[in-house]
Amino acid sequence: MASTRLKYLSLGVLVFQTTSLVLTMRYSRTLQGEGPRYLASSAVVTAEVLKILACVLLVLKEHNYSVRALNSVLRQEIAHKPIETLKLAIPSGIYTLQNNLLYVALSNLDAATYQVTYQLKILTTALFSVSMLGRRLGVYQWLSLLILMGGVALVQWPSDAVVTPEKQEVSAGSQVVGLVAVLVACCSSGFAGVYFEKILKETKQSVWVRNIQLGLFGLLFGLFGMLAYDGTRVREHGMFQGYNTVTCTVVSLQALGGLVIAAVIKYADNILKGFATSLSIILSTLISYFWLQDFDPTSMFFLGAMLVIVATFLYGYEGKPLSNPSRA
Ligand code: C5P
Repeated sequence: MASTRLKYLSLGVLVFQTTSLVLTMRYSRTLQGEGPRYLASSAVVTAEVLKILACVLLVLKEHNYSVRALNSVLRQEIAHKPIETLKLAIPSGIYTLQNNLLYVALSNLDAATYQVTYQLKILTTALFSVSMLGRRLGVYQWLSLLILMGGVALVQWPSDAVVTPEKQEVSAGSQVVGLVAVLVACCSSGFAGVYFEKILKETKQSVWVRNIQLGLFGLLFGLFGMLAYDGTRVREHGMFQGYNTVTCTVVSLQALGGLVIAAVIKYADNILKGFATSLSIILSTLISYFWLQDFDPTSMFFLGAMLVIVATFLYGYEGKPLSNPSRA
């Protein structure tokens, strides 16, 4: 079936996109040369603009490249339905808040603790899917979620050799701040993802039109953030200061991420999205071992990776969730 193909294709592209983004970001950190650093707030805005442009092209394609049809769809669905459009301000605002919370979390926790704790979002996503979408999970699926959490924790468990160079002394106070930030982000990630899924699956509108609505609010919040945090620097050296090829790659991959995540939520679901990102944690760690040679895997890593793979198969063992009446 075409939809099954799209489901696995979107999940596969998500694994590829997440892995490439992590590796490019890691690479860009080691490559940082002279000159001003690029502004993270500007990268968010640029990625949002790219995402909206790509979605407009996709809507154009859906209407056989008729600019007139595109115009009328955008006018009817976005401008003439302000309430429907405003509904997308909720996930968009939550995502903006979440991206800031994750910044607070990363500034107060070491990277490994951050990644392990943030994977808790798979459980919050499952809970929101059950309560908001009425999805029912079988025993094997709940079990696989627990195995997945255990596996990711082992994969990320810091070994002395790996973490020592970048481990910072963090005070107990800032550790608590970081943990609270990441826990709130887990709840917001689960809620915003499932809320977007509910809108997508309960209405007939194209996923790309929905993504344009989401992106417009994201752009608005992003511009506000850029002017509030970096207004002076933008006025002095421009919005694109410090951009280089690697920055452009990171921004493009981030924009691609927005598209792929929307496709995954449409053709698969938010829980499977969690599995895909877990697989990409393993993949990026393995690539950084074999290719970048900046990681030395421990037996904990291999055990964790095995658990993640077992969990992925176990989740699919009972087939699709028992009931999902809202699926398009
Ligand atoms: O960590 P989590 O999976 O919740 O992150 C989702 C990310 O994907 C957020 O940064 C959000 O801005 C982005 N997103 C997007 N377009 C969508 C859904 C999510 O850009 N349709």
